[in-house]
Amino acid sequence: MDLVPQKILNPRVKRLIGVASGKGGVGKSTVAVLIAQALAARGAKVGALDADITGPSLPRLMGLDSFRVGAENGKLIPLENEEGIKLLSINLLNEKEDDPVIWRGPLLAKALEQFWTDTDWGDLDYLIVDFPPGTSDVVLTAFQILPFDGIVVVATPQDYVSMIVRKSVKMAEMLSAKVIGLVENMKTMICPSCGKEIPLFDDGGSSGADRLDMPLLASLAWRPEVVRARSLRWKDLPEAMRADAERIALAIETFAKRRPEVAAQH
Ligand SMILES: Nc1ncnc2c1ncn2[C@@H]1O[C@H](COP(=O)(O)OP(=O)(O)O)[C@@H](O)[C@H]1O
Ligand SMILES: [Mg+2]
Repeated sequence: MDLVPQKILNPRVKRLIGVASGKGGVGKSTVAVLIAQALAARGAKVGALDADITGPSLPRLMGLDSFRVGAENGKLIPLENEEGIKLLSINLLNEKEDDPVIWRGPLLAKALEQFWTDTDWGDLDYLIVDFPPGTSDVVLTAFQILPFDGIVVVATPQDYVSMIVRKSVKMAEMLSAKVIGLVENMKTMICPSCGKEIPLFDDGGSSGADRLDMPLLASLAWRPEVVRARSLRWKDLPEAMRADAERIALAIETFAKRRPEVAAQH
C-alpha cells in the first residue's frame, strides 16, 4: 500500500488540528467540540470537519442536527452554528440523521477528501478534524491528504495499557503528523448528587501521558452535565470544564506558533 503522504493544501485554512484515539466512545467528538469552542471564545475563526463518516456526532453536539448543508458553484458550504463555528458532516447531507451510510472504505475515504477539497471553508484560523476510531481507510486518507499541524490524542485510563491508542499514534507519525499531547477523559467523575470529584481508576502513580510518552494537555472528569446535554453550549458548560478546554486551546496555540502555517510547510 502506498503510504506516502500526499498533502492537499488550502492556504485559506491556517491550521489543521486532528482529534484522534484508538477506540470509539472515549470522548473524541466531545473534546473536538470543546477545543473548537475554546479557540472560538479566544477570538479565532474555527471550523470542524466531521471525519467520522459512519458514526457522525458533531451535528448534534454543535446544535446543527436539524439543518442541511447546501452547495454553491460546485462546492459544499459548511453550516455555522450559533457560536460561529463552521461544520461539515455527512449527517448534514443525509436526508435523515439516522440514515446509515452503507459504503465501503474507498467511498468513505473519498467523502472525507471532498469535505476538504470540494468545500468552501472560507478563511479559518483553525480547522478541527474529528477522527473516526481506529486505523481504517478514512483515518489513513485523513493522515495522507490533510496537512495537519498536530494531533490531539484522547484516551480513557483503560486505553493506556492497551496497544490500540499506540497504533493510532504510530500511524500518525508514519504519515508525518505531529502529536501535540494527550487529553485524558473520565479518569475521575463528578458525583451527580454531592458534586465531589471521585477517582475511578488507580493508575499506580504513573499517568497516561507518561505511559504514552506525550505531554498531558488536560484531564477531563466525567460530568453529569455532558451526559444530560443534547448539545454542548460553551456558555452553559461548568466553569471547570471550560478551564480545561481553554488549557487545551492554549497548548494548541503555543504548538502552532512554533510552526509555519500549513501552506508554507509542505
Ligand atoms: N467527560 C465526559 N463526561 C460525561 N460524559 C462524557 C464525557 N466525555 C464523553 N462523554 C460521553 O461519552 C459518549 C462518547 O463520547 P464521544 O465524544 O462521542 O466519543 P467518541 O467520539 O470517542 O466516540 C457520549 O455519550 C458522551 O456524551
Ligand atoms: Mg466521535
